[in-house]
Amino acid sequence: MTVQINPSILSADFARLADEAQAVKGADWLHVDVMDNHFVPNLTLGVPIVESLSRATSTPLDCHLMIEDPDRWAPQYVEAGAGSVTFHAEAAAAPVRLAREIRAKGARASMALKPATPIEPYEDLLPELDMLLIMTVEPGFGGQKFLDIMLPKIRRTRELISRHGLELWLQVDGGVSAETIERCAEAGADVFVAGSAVYGTDDPAAAVRSLRELAETATTAAPWACGH
Ligand code: DX5
Ligand code: ZN
Repeated sequence: MTVQINPSILSADFARLADEAQAVKGADWLHVDVMDNHFVPNLTLGVPIVESLSRATSTPLDCHLMIEDPDRWAPQYVEAGAGSVTFHAEAAAAPVRLAREIRAKGARASMALKPATPIEPYEDLLPELDMLLIMTVEPGFGGQKFLDIMLPKIRRTRELISRHGLELWLQVDGGVSAETIERCAEAGADVFVAGSAVYGTDDPAAAVRSLRELAETATTAAPWACGH
């Protein structure tokens, strides 16, 4: 079972994005938070910046779309160079059609759930996805406190993935830090987004390394990972 660490550039210096991408060289993906001030009460960046960033770094881009009408916009992020595109279940009108379109265009398709959205109604849809994102804070801002009450949802999702024998990555996003990452890994997450815990430190690359180490150790000890 491979652990992946995806630093979120939401906590980076937006005027120096190319340098900030370089600063986390060992990272698996660069997590790019797209917010439209409608789906969430914050506004960040859009297609042109993703396009430039994908040219400026060899680290693949993991675009997390916190926007209304992803059915319309998500395919443009694939064309802009994203290797993975995540839309929110609460915002998508036709999630199956959208996931298929993202895959057909050549990116990994991923769906996110806000804290109050349960996983169970989406069980039959999971084979259409390459990754599921469980938000561990209310989406919209970096630097919020990790919601421990999301751990049972992570556990139940991991059970569904195992029961159906799926090759689905399980991402957590929000408040992931050296203090919380082991609990996420133990519960079943294997892709970890960290914003302030990486870019809020003096040495972002070292932060990525130590988060990875903590997650790997916790995964090895986790019951769900036995035999992988
Ligand atoms: C929150 C974003 C996160 C955010 C995480 O809505 O989706 O990706 O950058 O930041 P931290 O790790 O600081 O909670
Ligand atoms: Zn995010």
